[in-house]
Amino acid sequence: MSLRKLYYLLPPAARILARKLVFMPSDMLERLSGRDELIPPKGLIYTGGGDFKETGFRFLGYFKEYGNLSPDDHVLDIGSGIGRLAIPLTNYLSSEATYNGFDVIAQGVNWCTQNITVKYPQFRFHHIDLKNDLYRNDGSEAKEYTFPLTDSSQDFIFLISVFTHLVPEEMERYISEIARLLSKEKTCFATFFVLDKDKPQVNPNFSFKHNYGHYALMDEKVTSANVAFEKDYLMAVFEKNGLTVEHYLPGHWRDPSKSDGTLDFQDIVVLRKG
Ligand SMILES: C[S@@+](CC[C@H](N)C(=O)[O-])C[C@H]1O[C@@H](n2cnc3c(N)ncnc32)[C@H](O)[C@@H]1O
Repeated sequence: MSLRKLYYLLPPAARILARKLVFMPSDMLERLSGRDELIPPKGLIYTGGGDFKETGFRFLGYFKEYGNLSPDDHVLDIGSGIGRLAIPLTNYLSSEATYNGFDVIAQGVNWCTQNITVKYPQFRFHHIDLKNDLYRNDGSEAKEYTFPLTDSSQDFIFLISVFTHLVPEEMERYISEIARLLSKEKTCFATFFVLDKDKPQVNPNFSFKHNYGHYALMDEKVTSANVAFEKDYLMAVFEKNGLTVEHYLPGHWRDPSKSDGTLDFQDIVVLRKG
C-alpha cells in the first residue's frame, strides 16, 4: 500500500497530528538553533511538501509574470493555508494594498495571524467554518458559501492547490464567487488538475482512477484528496461566469520527466473578468 493511501486512511485530525509528531524532533532542533520567524515549523505545514519558502517566491514570480499582479492591488488568497504565498507578498505589496486570506483550518489561520498580521497589519486571515473531507469532518457546505466581501472589490484572487481539493459543486460555487468579487478586467490565478485529452497522462504514481465524466478522483473515500476536472466542463464553468482564459499553462503532474517544457507541477489557469 502506498504512503499516500495509508495517509488517507487516517481521520483528518490524525493526518495533521501525524505530521506534527514526525517533525517534532527536527522542529525542536531548529527552534534551539534559531529559526526564520516567518517560516512555520515543518510539523505545522499541513499544506503539502516541497521547499516552503522557495515555492512561495516561485509563485510570486508567476503572479507578476502571468497574473498582472501590482503592488497596490486588493488581493484575496482563497485557501491561504499556513501563509506560503502570503509571506513573499509581505515584501511585495505596498501599504495601499489589502490582503485577505481565508481558510477552513484554524491552526493555519491562527499561525498566520500571530506571525504575519502582527508585523503586517494589512494582511488579514479569516477562518471559515466549512467542511472538506481531506482536512476536517465538520462544518458547513462550501458549495453554499458566500465570502464576506463586496462585489467587484478585488484586483487579484488566487487559489494555489485549492481547486484540486474541491468537488465540482464547490468549485462551481467558488468560480461564481470569484466572478462576483473581481473588479472588471482583473485577474484570478488558480491551479488545477485538468483532464485534457490532448495531453497524455503517463505518471503511474499520480492517476485519477475514479472517473465520473466531468471530473475524476484519486481516492473515492476521501473525495477531496485530489480532484481533476475535465477540460471542456471547466472551460464552460468559466464562460458561464464571464471569465476568459488568459493563460493555460499545463503542469508536469501528468509526466514527471518534464520533457514537455511545463512550468509547475499543477496546471495553472489565469482568468480575467470581462
Ligand atoms: C494544499 S493546501 C494549499 C494551501 C496554500 N494555498 C498554499 O499553496 O500553501 C489546500 C488548502 O485549501 C484549504 N481549503 C480546503 N477546502 C477549502 C475551502 N472550501 N475553502 C477555503 N479553503 C479550503 C485547506 O485547508 C488548505 O489550507
